[in-house]
Amino acid sequence: MTQTVLARTTALFALSFTLSFSPAQTPSATVPPATLTIQVDKPLHSVSPTLYGLMTEEINFSYDGGLYAEMVRNRTLQENGWDGIAHWTLVEGPGASAHMSVDKATGPSAALPKSLLLDITRATPAAPAGARNEGFWGMSLTPNTTYRGSFYAKADPTFLTPASAAPASAALTFALISNNTGKAEARTTSAPLTSTWKRYEFTLKTSALTPSTENHLEITATHPGKLWITLISLFPPTFHDRPNGNRIDLMQKLAAMHPRFLRLPGGNYLEGDTIAERFDWKRTIGPLVDRPTHRSPWNYQSSDGLGLLEFLNWTEDLRIDPVLAVYAGYSLKGAHVDPGPALQPFVDDALDEIEFVTGDPHSTHWGAIRASLGHPAPFPLHYVEIGNEDEFDKSGSYEGRYAQFSAAVKAKYPALELIATTPIHGTRPDLIDDHYYRSATEFFGMLDHYDHASRTGPKIFVGEWATREGSPTTNLGAALGDAAFMTSLERNSDLIVMASYAPLLVNVNPGGMQWESDLIGYDTRTSFGSPSFYAQSIFAEFLGTVVPTSTIAPPTSQTGTPLVYSVTQTPAPAQGRARLYLKLVNATSAPAPAED
Ligand code: AHR
Repeated sequence: MTQTVLARTTALFALSFTLSFSPAQTPSATVPPATLTIQVDKPLHSVSPTLYGLMTEEINFSYDGGLYAEMVRNRTLQENGWDGIAHWTLVEGPGASAHMSVDKATGPSAALPKSLLLDITRATPAAPAGARNEGFWGMSLTPNTTYRGSFYAKADPTFLTPASAAPASAALTFALISNNTGKAEARTTSAPLTSTWKRYEFTLKTSALTPSTENHLEITATHPGKLWITLISLFPPTFHDRPNGNRIDLMQKLAAMHPRFLRLPGGNYLEGDTIAERFDWKRTIGPLVDRPTHRSPWNYQSSDGLGLLEFLNWTEDLRIDPVLAVYAGYSLKGAHVDPGPALQPFVDDALDEIEFVTGDPHSTHWGAIRASLGHPAPFPLHYVEIGNEDEFDKSGSYEGRYAQFSAAVKAKYPALELIATTPIHGTRPDLIDDHYYRSATEFFGMLDHYDHASRTGPKIFVGEWATREGSPTTNLGAALGDAAFMTSLERNSDLIVMASYAPLLVNVNPGGMQWESDLIGYDTRTSFGSPSFYAQSIFAEFLGTVVPTSTIAPPTSQTGTPLVYSVTQTPAPAQGRARLYLKLVNATSAPAPAED
């Protein structure tokens, strides 16, 4: 068992003070106490104001089945199961009879050319027939809550003008049903369908109930006929009440990390397994009915409900800046685009993307499109990353690809700082993105890595890193490795501009995880922070603006007590108190008492 010592001194009047640490018991009992001296009148350098942030991508059901609050799984029928229609099953009341299939020949838009065909041969009000969606490992219901739904549908004459139907029977019934009791916890009826594709909205309101995830959605009709339905969507209340928005508990956890930026949209998710499966941002904006969805490299279909504008709204909700990673012509299975004319469309796409994020709503094409989608104000943008982990591109094309992107972006947006994903030599990037997935021991072995790094080259973005111990979320040992590494990030924050842990999120339901050792875990209803989450949150919350001179004597390497620390301070404002933040990480299983 190891333990962390974290200390915070909130007021400081002396110019220099010392803390002594008694060593652990044997074998180091003969070693004198370590003395930490902090000279608050001798600032070394400022702390990067953007040091801690978030890195995100669609992995571990981070968005679909996670942050993105959609409750209906496979809502556009783009994902087919080997033994049927994934996550959909037939509903046949006693004596009712129906068949369902995916009709690949009709849908409400070019992007969504498929739909669920319900062919009902026998149904009555007492014995309806239709389809059931199981949700993402169930559907979380809470009492007295309004759920907002929508769908696209059309029906043929067999359904619209049945021989013996009541006038309102071209409507569909939507109900949230308990898996355990079969009880409808909420029920409503839609407007009548017509012969052409139309969008419908509905609400479902629960009353008193015990919160549970063991529920599903049923869509039923009360008489025979054929109908088609797709983009069936249902949302609980969301963070900041955004339509098509995010889960409240997860957004609260992200806010609690005191982040300063969000690196989006990946990661491998940016690259895709193939060029066709990259994060093609133009296919993720606009009405949901115009988003074709795409396969993520983590082996499931992404609904793209959380598309580029939703990423940006997410940054706005947390009052942080996006760090935009643009697709740069390399995908995970090795395909690359040669620099030159073939790459130019991808460069143009990146320029368009930057314009979508930052462009004036009146004078730029993509700024106007963003405004038409409900966000006239440009988003702040300071950093653009060109690709992801391009050291894996063994063709050696990254030098040329980076140069082409860099020239084009800098020509149009000279104030933007550009991030290369691996060291390059021909063009000088503003920052390099370093990634580290290590054990705690490995992190303890590299705490001086950045102490010796060049201060004359590009700055550093540690865009992905984690102590990978524990599954699905990390354990206390991992948090100690993380905390120790963060002391080195803070000490070197003249060089390290930003750092973000990865992966951020994991759905802990069976089959939800593709990558072990994640920061925040959740099921369909609840979420929890790992020990690493708390280490991150504490480090980001208690951070000064300046690193003062400090020394520890004798060096901890000689005391047998590998106690590592970070000290930052915030000078006194005109009125108010100076603050000193001291973080101590004791990596042994023995206590290291401190006195000052
Ligand atoms: O964080 C998981 C993956 O690790 C990221 O998608 C990728 O960039 C890295 O290899």
